[in-house]
Amino acid sequence: GIRSVARGIGSYLPERVVTNAELSQRIDTTDEWIVQRTGIRQRHVAAEGELTSHLALVAARRALTDAGFAPGDIDLIVLATATPDQTFPATAVTVQAELGITRGAAFDVQAVCSGFVFALATADALLKSGAFERALVIGAETFSRILDWEDRGTCVLFGDGAGAMVLEAVQQDDARGAGLLTTHLRSDGRHRNKLYVDGGPSSTGTVGHLRMEGREVFKHAVGMITDVITDAFAATGESADSIDWFVPHQANRRIIDASAQKLGIAPEKVVTTVDLHGNTSAASIPLALDVAWRDGRVQRGQLVLLEAMGGGFTWASALLRW
Ligand code: ACO
Repeated sequence: GIRSVARGIGSYLPERVVTNAELSQRIDTTDEWIVQRTGIRQRHVAAEGELTSHLALVAARRALTDAGFAPGDIDLIVLATATPDQTFPATAVTVQAELGITRGAAFDVQAVCSGFVFALATADALLKSGAFERALVIGAETFSRILDWEDRGTCVLFGDGAGAMVLEAVQQDDARGAGLLTTHLRSDGRHRNKLYVDGGPSSTGTVGHLRMEGREVFKHAVGMITDVITDAFAATGESADSIDWFVPHQANRRIIDASAQKLGIAPEKVVTTVDLHGNTSAASIPLALDVAWRDGRVQRGQLVLLEAMGGGFTWASALLRW
């Protein structure tokens, strides 16, 4: 049958780095508190006028270069973001236009921190249907724009960035061949008030700020993550032992470590970038995977497990042979 094969990956971080030390000069916090609770040491913050679409575009160009593809090869763009340039049009169509692509389709997906895996599953289904041939799947965020910089409980946690993956529909009958093997998506809107933005076009008419009950999120995260990964293992016959890399959503070091431990995934298989990037929401997985691809850890033919959990709540897993 048709399988979606990852041909390339790319990412982009805004130039400006904000360290914990800098934050501790602005609000009542310390490097020690942030590192101990979250593992975060620094985050990147977009410059004034640097929009989500700008970050996405650079990441997309780098992914195309990595794949050896031209923009004209792409007929589908699925972009995950909770911080679009505008309410509409979709940030994906801005990226499409900037790349000079005039065919196919481009749209945004909104599943907050789980957005990249939701976008990946969406693109995968559309490629498998035969409707499209080559997709750009992007996660791009400027959470710095929706943070309450006076709220020490949230503003220390997030950063800006973007990552992109090029997928191609390939006739693939070898079960051990490259490609996306399974995706599992979940949501439960009963938890929608635990992590949300207190504004929006239909409610307040303002953009609003991120609000979070951190402890409540933490309490649910590990169970949801491990459940949806158990589904991925059950669907494929793979296991904590057979996977080569675990590339989780980078929200919090403690959540990542606890999830890996509960699943029995060896610490040396876990890709962690939360220390340097903070939580970049939908961008965090492709950012982390790109780091591990470029530094030579991730190799062609290896099994890579992705996982995310975020506002909604939404949670999701994906297993692919790179
Ligand atoms: N610096 C210093 N002290 C702080 C800070 C800070 N930045 N933030 C909160 N505190 C204080 C609180 O005011 C509180 O003080 P008090 O006891 O005097 O009232 C104390 O630290 C403990 O606060 P808690 O919120 O209970 O701290 P907790 O141990 O739960 O850690 C944290 C907070 C890091 C947010 C944790 O709950 C967490 O990691 N939750 C998961 C959040 C997360 O990862 N969200 C994103 C996942 S989903 C997504 O990616 C969108």
